[in-house]
Amino acid sequence: MTIVGNPVTESTNWGTLCDLAITVGESHIRDLFVADPKRAKTLCFSANGVSVDFSRQRVTQEVIDSLCELARERELLSARDAMFSGQHINITEDRAVLHTALRLPKGSSLIVDGVDVVPPIHEVLERMEILANDVREGRWLGFTGQRITDVVNIGIGGSDLGPVMAYEALRHFSSRDLSFHFVSNVDGTDVAEVLAKVNPLTTLFIVASKTFSTIETMMNATSAREALLAVVPGADESAVARHFVAVSTSASRVSDFGIDVNNMFGFWDWVGGRYSMDSSIGLSTMIAVGPANYRELLSGFHAMDEHFKSAPLESNLPVLMGLIGLWNRSLLNIPTVAVLPYDQYLLRFPAYLQQLIMESNGKSVTRTGKDVNTETGAIYWGEPGTNGQHSFYQLLHQGTATVACDVLLTAKSLNPIGEHHDVLVSNALAQATVLAFGRTQDQIRAANVPEHLVAHKEMPGNRPTTLISVDQVTPFILGSLVSMYEHLTFVQGIIWGINSFDQWGVELGKELATNITPFLTNDADLGAFDAATAESIIWYRANRSN
Ligand code: F6P
Repeated sequence: MTIVGNPVTESTNWGTLCDLAITVGESHIRDLFVADPKRAKTLCFSANGVSVDFSRQRVTQEVIDSLCELARERELLSARDAMFSGQHINITEDRAVLHTALRLPKGSSLIVDGVDVVPPIHEVLERMEILANDVREGRWLGFTGQRITDVVNIGIGGSDLGPVMAYEALRHFSSRDLSFHFVSNVDGTDVAEVLAKVNPLTTLFIVASKTFSTIETMMNATSAREALLAVVPGADESAVARHFVAVSTSASRVSDFGIDVNNMFGFWDWVGGRYSMDSSIGLSTMIAVGPANYRELLSGFHAMDEHFKSAPLESNLPVLMGLIGLWNRSLLNIPTVAVLPYDQYLLRFPAYLQQLIMESNGKSVTRTGKDVNTETGAIYWGEPGTNGQHSFYQLLHQGTATVACDVLLTAKSLNPIGEHHDVLVSNALAQATVLAFGRTQDQIRAANVPEHLVAHKEMPGNRPTTLISVDQVTPFILGSLVSMYEHLTFVQGIIWGINSFDQWGVELGKELATNITPFLTNDADLGAFDAATAESIIWYRANRSN
């Protein structure tokens, strides 16, 4: 396996890109359009129902060619093949990275470490389908013989964000006879508010945790179990089997928790948490939208995987998204990307991308443990478009920080009501225009604006903006979009020479929290803690409710 592990700044092509960052990167997007009006067409690419327009980015074809050259030098193609073939590219955990296998069609084959991984994937999918149909069609009954009315997914991180995002995104396709809820935070308020809404005797709880040891999920699952047993006649423990199913890689922990392993849906250690929404972690999604729509979602993922595997770098959507994102981050020094969906169904898409990209590429050392020597992972955040316009867009347009933007829009509304969609799309296009082109002082004066307001009304523009358009947010399109962002993340990780598939940065906080917990409720000496933490513990001891 040849995956580069030295800093990208040591690449032969880096110097050329640094020069281009001055000549092209410091140009105004307005001037790039004057020099090449055809860029509105030539910098647009599409695949599998997703069109991506890079014309409002501070790039030219020369920059794109040079970035593709860098990708070749960093051996992106062999790294990609290593991932798809199941080599252990997650070197710090010695694991394959095979979320792409989750969407391989039935009947295909992929031998990893001597075993064909595809048949077990489809066995689990088929078991999920049986459960999903039973719940949707009223055959799965609760302990007292009542039909299931509510599904509660209990998980956190990738075991929550994918299911929530997909549920919101595909709500139009979901069963309206069932209500879906998501509990993630260890703050008891989260589970309490959901338990206040549901009747445990008509609820199916899905405990979703890859490791089945995550404290937040285990505490929430235990509280939900107690709430069930509190209403079950005679607190009969056998009720748990009718109301709890598990999604995990650890059968022993599932069983220790008291969930029947027959009600467990497995997946594999080669599926990273943030890459798991199409593993059995997608069980709540499948119950919501039904098996046929879920298969469409998988097809969308697979179609984009195939595009990523086969399209030339210069027209490959995830490759271009990844390279241009890297150009903005490392060469133009733009620290953040706002994800601005102009589609209410993509409400949670920014939060989903936050974990996917920031947990993957928020790294400071290369695969060989050297300093990365450049800026890496961008900060992702965002809100649905028009809501954001009345909130933080002021800073996007006139603040001192440059924020790159991904604007997502759809051609057709799934809820066509009057002129709503036309107005929504006009807003998306207007914002993309202002972000890229701005408004000069001369244009403002020409509109007879009083001189003392001219500077206040100037809009600098030149905010690099990618416009991503699709027909509608269908299951297929959602799969295609998510797969594009997954591979964008991979591309950047390979070019930067980092491991996008571990997350050591989250471990220390977990460890310290476990150490602190007992000290909050006793009066043991705090000498082992730093002074700031000790003072906070003293405050909490004095004020906590007993
Ligand atoms: O702490 C981070 C993390 O490991 C994420 O990567 C993961 O998605 C989340 O915790 C939840 O993990 P699990 O599914 O094992 O409960």
